[in-house]
Amino acid sequence: MSPATVVLVLLSLVGLSAVRAEDPYLYFTWNVTYGTIAPLGVPQQGILINGQFPGPNINSTTNNNIVINVFNHLDQPFLLSWNGIQQRKNSWQDGMYGTNCPIPPGKNFTYHFQVKDQIGSFFYFPSMGMHKAAGGFGGLRINSRLLIPVPFDPPADDFTVLIGDWYAKDHSVLARLLDAGRSIGRPAGVLINGKTGKDTTGKDEAPLFTVEAGKTYRYRICNVGLKTSLNFRIQSHKMKLVEMDGSHTVQNVYDSLDVHAGQCYSVLVTADKTPRDYYMVASTRFLKDTQTSTAIIRYAGSTTPPSTVLPDGPVGWAWSFNQWRTFRWNLTASAARPNPQGSYHYGSINITRTIKLLNTRTIVGGKVRYAINGVSHTDPETPLKLAEYFNITDKVFKYNLVGDVPPATDAAVTVAPNVMTAEYRTFIEIIFENPEKTVQSYHLDGYSFFPVGMGPGKWSTDSRRTYNLLDAVSRHTIQVYPKSWTAIMLTFDNAGMWNLRSEIWEKHYLGQQLYISVLSPARSIRDEYNIPDNVLRCGAVTNLPLPPPYA
Ligand SMILES: *[C@@H]1O[C@H](CO)[C@@H](O)[C@H](O)[C@H]1NC(C)=O
Ligand SMILES: *[C@@H]1O[C@H](CO)[C@@H](O)[C@H](O)[C@H]1NC(C)=O
Ligand SMILES: *[C@@H]1O[C@H](CO)[C@@H](O)[C@H](O)[C@H]1NC(C)=O
Ligand SMILES: *[C@@H]1O[C@H](CO)[C@@H](O)[C@H](O)[C@H]1NC(C)=O
Ligand SMILES: *[C@@H]1O[C@H](CO)[C@@H](O)[C@H](O)[C@H]1NC(C)=O
Ligand SMILES: *[C@@H]1O[C@H](CO)[C@@H](O)[C@H](O)[C@H]1NC(C)=O
Repeated sequence: MSPATVVLVLLSLVGLSAVRAEDPYLYFTWNVTYGTIAPLGVPQQGILINGQFPGPNINSTTNNNIVINVFNHLDQPFLLSWNGIQQRKNSWQDGMYGTNCPIPPGKNFTYHFQVKDQIGSFFYFPSMGMHKAAGGFGGLRINSRLLIPVPFDPPADDFTVLIGDWYAKDHSVLARLLDAGRSIGRPAGVLINGKTGKDTTGKDEAPLFTVEAGKTYRYRICNVGLKTSLNFRIQSHKMKLVEMDGSHTVQNVYDSLDVHAGQCYSVLVTADKTPRDYYMVASTRFLKDTQTSTAIIRYAGSTTPPSTVLPDGPVGWAWSFNQWRTFRWNLTASAARPNPQGSYHYGSINITRTIKLLNTRTIVGGKVRYAINGVSHTDPETPLKLAEYFNITDKVFKYNLVGDVPPATDAAVTVAPNVMTAEYRTFIEIIFENPEKTVQSYHLDGYSFFPVGMGPGKWSTDSRRTYNLLDAVSRHTIQVYPKSWTAIMLTFDNAGMWNLRSEIWEKHYLGQQLYISVLSPARSIRDEYNIPDNVLRCGAVTNLPLPPPYA
């Protein structure tokens, strides 16, 4: 039996005579422990899940119920979050400090959520502190249901490729550096599924994947790193892009792909070259000293090592920007339901509100903080969602310290919980402006959104004329190039408390994030699930009586 024991409950009996097919359940028990790992040849403290680094893959199907009992054997509070899983009506399971009390050391918490109406490639990661720098992440895929057409033939196999920058320091050391107002600096290397591809003597590791000549394989590539944009490519092979962040794309062919922090892509690759070994390559983008890692794809039976000549990565920002412009949603492909995606015409919905968010770096009390529109987020001891539910927000945080437009540049930065409200079911345009010299990557929990435009300099209302209002790819993480803007649009139709964050993890840690509170005025289970029975309590809500459940 695999360490993650999977139990499928296909039917449940409801009432006396009615038999209703319920969506299947997948059950997991995960032990989270420290363990020594040495991905760069230097022993360091890793975070393991059931002894594994990276953690186990979750292989699910649309609408599956996922039940994961997580035992925290670390010496610190712990949470897992599910990157790109929308948690519809269910921010109770989102696993960010704004929504969940952390699992105390020695305790456990059972996540219970449904991967409702989603397909595609995702990952989970530990959301507290700098835990992500130690591992604790893994792939999470959602297969289409049997009767839902997929816009390509079933691949011969389906591989998860987690790429990310890596630091040789323990997560607590990195956190201490940031707490002291220092930087974590540049990464020490790049990993592909936890490895650089070379052992300590510089020899190639065993092949990561084996393929058969003539067959086509799906590779799900996610950037699980702390901050660095990476370029991914395979020697001599073209990649056909089929999915990103949970949406089927127009199937363009690429030699390489830029994957920014927090993003996932699926490509199809046919093993149609001379049978031998080939390198896959992940290399850093936009850094002075490029870091590169490899992993071997072996044609079954090959004894020929890969060519030592690695394909060059692209250079410069313009290449990356131009690649983004080629990404298109496949409007006729099915998503999680058989209806065509294009029946949703986001371009013809009236915008009710425009929010412009500017990321800045400032010094507060002699230390670096990162802010959005002049507010640098801190997590109060009581999770925001629980404060809201127990009706004690006045003791915990203030709504809307942050405004819809950036403050004047000389305004002082406020360090406080950063919570913005959005009216339920409104259609909103968000402009991200990045005045800094480094790339930014934003992720929004609870939703996918349409990145409709990007451009250099500052956004203006004229920029709207460049928007793609037809077939932008609906996704959950989007880059903002240096001294540039990115515009997204979405409907706030998922009630809950949702983290909007920089995926540049030191910036996230030092305040570049906010929560969007989307309240359904009805307090109805039609719009939001009730607080789970096993909810962990902490801070000001520890001993409060439970409010009456939603009706
Ligand atoms: C988790 O750890 C407990 C002991 O703490 C052990 O009994 C159990 O088998 C472990 N489970 C897995 C899945 O590793
Ligand atoms: C994942 O799940 C699908 C659908 O249930 C199944 O066909 C496939 O074999 C599974 N893959 C792995 C690697 O377990
Ligand atoms: C902790 O695990 C036990 C089973 O070992 C389970 O009954 C309990 O519900 C879990 N606690 C939480 C808070 O989920
Ligand atoms: C989009 O999906 C449809 C339906 O599965 C498929 O036939 C078509 O080839 C796809 N189009 C492109 C451009 O990838
Ligand atoms: C959108 O706004 C335009 C102009 O203000 C108006 O004519 C139109 O009826 C609106 N459409 C919807 C669907 O509300
Ligand atoms: C929440 O608390 C305020 C006082 O702080 C009270 O006026 C209000 O009625 C409460 N709302 C609910 C839904 O209990």
